[in-house]
Amino acid sequence: MRAVAQAQPNIALVKYWGKQNLADNLPAVGSLSITLDSLWTRMEVEFSSELRNDRLLIGGHQDDEMLARVSGCLDQVVGTDRDRAIIQSETNFPIAAGLASSASAFAALVMAADAACGKSHELLSLARMAGRASGSAARSFYGGFVELRVDGRRIDTVQLLKDDEWPLHVVVAITAETAKPLGSTEAMIRSAESSPFYSSWVERQDEDLGAAREAVGERDFAKLASVAEHNCLKMHSVMWTSRPSIVYWNRATLSCMQTVRELQNSGVPVFFTIDAGPQVKAVCLPAAADQVAAALQETSGVSRVLQSNLGHGARLVASA
Ligand code: DP6
Repeated sequence: MRAVAQAQPNIALVKYWGKQNLADNLPAVGSLSITLDSLWTRMEVEFSSELRNDRLLIGGHQDDEMLARVSGCLDQVVGTDRDRAIIQSETNFPIAAGLASSASAFAALVMAADAACGKSHELLSLARMAGRASGSAARSFYGGFVELRVDGRRIDTVQLLKDDEWPLHVVVAITAETAKPLGSTEAMIRSAESSPFYSSWVERQDEDLGAAREAVGERDFAKLASVAEHNCLKMHSVMWTSRPSIVYWNRATLSCMQTVRELQNSGVPVFFTIDAGPQVKAVCLPAAADQVAAALQETSGVSRVLQSNLGHGARLVASA
């Protein structure tokens, strides 16, 4: 009745932004990501017939804000006629600041809940269930390079390469530690309703996915860099042109992008990507990791940098 699972965040290189259906949280577009190694979320789920309500503890503190979403996710995995649970989450990186904490949290939650209630769903079903709670969470069940395909109402996940088949490195420049002002669900709805660029974003996503898939297959860093930066800037253009506008960047975000451009101009194999927050993720070849980390650490406004190799998908840590 108790299980603990661990999952790592993933960083999208071709982004998920927009929903075709809110009730099932169905993405409007496919996406492609890399799963990290050294950042993690651990979720412990313990069901008990003696509890009257679910209880959620994040980093040891009771959290009632996220509880409804977490309880809804447990209903998906176990069924609504279930025992109540104590859910405890630990994470080793700042949450809700655009570091994909919901991805690792819901992937670990679904895997732990499945084990704790003895259901043993197959991985794709678990990924789809986590995706209903948070779209990007479906990708954290797999390591390395992961594509989430959307075909009408059908979601599929494909591992394109394992983590050690193309060992890239990620440096995250932290430019603000506070929670983001607007959650991604609300922001996506606003973008779909009001950005004049939204429809072309959706229409042209398959082009970017095709180019990124090819780049990963060929392990062509320059090609991946080009499509990933383009797709990221396109997503932020959709955000910026929403009404009211959604701007997650701060001054240091732009300074970090400038640092990455300077590194590129001196021949360093690195590119940037940015999600629904002000942090900049620099993806590079492992040989450039120290140089990229040092340059970002020195960039004005950066409080610290986190580093990670690529890692595995969600896994069980304990169950009883
Ligand atoms: C910008 O998966 O957090 O990081 O499904 O509403 O929970 P919900 O959204 P979420 O959105 C992630 C958006 C993104 C891009 C990405 O990870 O693909």
